[in-house]
Amino acid sequence: MLLQNSRYTLGGMDVLGLVEEFGAPLYVYNADTIHRQFTRLDRAFSGIDHQIKYACKALTNVNILRFIRQCGGGLDTVSLNELHLGLQAGFAAKDIFFTPNNVSFDEVKEAIALGAQLNLDNLPMLEKLGQTYGGSVPVCIRINPHIMAGGNEKISTGHINSKFGISITQLDDIVRVQEQYGLDVSGLHMHTGSEIVDTDIFLQGAQILLEAGRRLKTIRFFDFGGGFKVPYKQGDKETNVEELGERLAALCHNEMKQRGSSFYACFEPGKYLVSEAGLLLVRVNVIKQTPATTFAGVDSGLNHLIRPMFYKAHHDITNISNPEGAVKPYSVAGYICETDNFAWDREMNEVREGDILAFHNAGAYGIMMASNYNSRPRPAEVFIVNGKAHLIRRRETLEDILRTQLVLDI
Ligand code: LLP
Repeated sequence: MLLQNSRYTLGGMDVLGLVEEFGAPLYVYNADTIHRQFTRLDRAFSGIDHQIKYACKALTNVNILRFIRQCGGGLDTVSLNELHLGLQAGFAAKDIFFTPNNVSFDEVKEAIALGAQLNLDNLPMLEKLGQTYGGSVPVCIRINPHIMAGGNEKISTGHINSKFGISITQLDDIVRVQEQYGLDVSGLHMHTGSEIVDTDIFLQGAQILLEAGRRLKTIRFFDFGGGFKVPYKQGDKETNVEELGERLAALCHNEMKQRGSSFYACFEPGKYLVSEAGLLLVRVNVIKQTPATTFAGVDSGLNHLIRPMFYKAHHDITNISNPEGAVKPYSVAGYICETDNFAWDREMNEVREGDILAFHNAGAYGIMMASNYNSRPRPAEVFIVNGKAHLIRRRETLEDILRTQLVLDI
């Protein structure tokens, strides 16, 4: 978001103008930022043959999916519906990875029928796959390397207590099941957490995965997951993807020599591609002075952006209506009947009733984790492509909330 002549712009569009046109609260995404991030990551990993599979749980609007397909990406999906959205967005089934956790075998069978690439993370499921399909369906296996990585406990997925992946200590069992059924293990996968800043930790996990792969001769790729961190505030740490790419490529080429065969690498960025591309724009309903703080009460809440409350995540907030206003501290809170503070005592340009506030880094896990709590509708979504703003999801209404309810005659 750029400040130009006292007006904030995004992708060349006047942000306040977008609120006038589409209303608030509003999610807005900028295609240029997604493209920039995709290109940067693609270049960073250019030292090795690779595929970027967008972890679409971060933001699944089909228009975003189509755009990422045009950038050259594949998809990582975790549910059949995500898989269907990917197909609808024009991805070839072979470019869609299916990485479910704790789903039924029926769901896995359906993903196979749709032609997706399977990525399984438990031994009973691998056995079922072998019993039903023998070695006719290639399968990638998600390994839990037992390392602690990621921004906080809630988003760490590769440690010993995590529900994800098959423990690296059960490698013998994996090899046994593979041999028993002649499974075609096409790849090994890890995803150890979100917001991994430390490249050493990432490489430590990669090394474990590569070593595990020595036991499996059918491997064509290693999927190193996502979790690349982007800055959420000034001075925030971010993953040095260029350094990571260089070191990982060296590690992989070394491994290829050891194996005497080549393989390609996959990456599954979510936040890295879409976090910075998104803003959530909300309107200030009330300014409330208390003995402790000044509240700016807005027409949104944990029903629209839950990350600050759920993960204590920091999102920068800009008062785009008053860029020249005197800077004062505000506690920004939502309208939900819970303590849904977005921020406490945050320095902002003077906030007045009716002002529009912009939450930054709202592209990833924003609308996707939104709900109808308090029977509030979810916001609309707008996508800025080539200097034009397109409505890509209309605002929900009371009718949408009632749609799935069956009213009994009692
Ligand atoms: N691959 C797999 C298998 C994943 O489970 C995830 C995210 C990703 C890739 C992408 O991770 P990313 O690059 O976005 O960090 N809702 C949380 C993040 C949960 C991530 C879940 N899995 C948040 O808002 O911080």
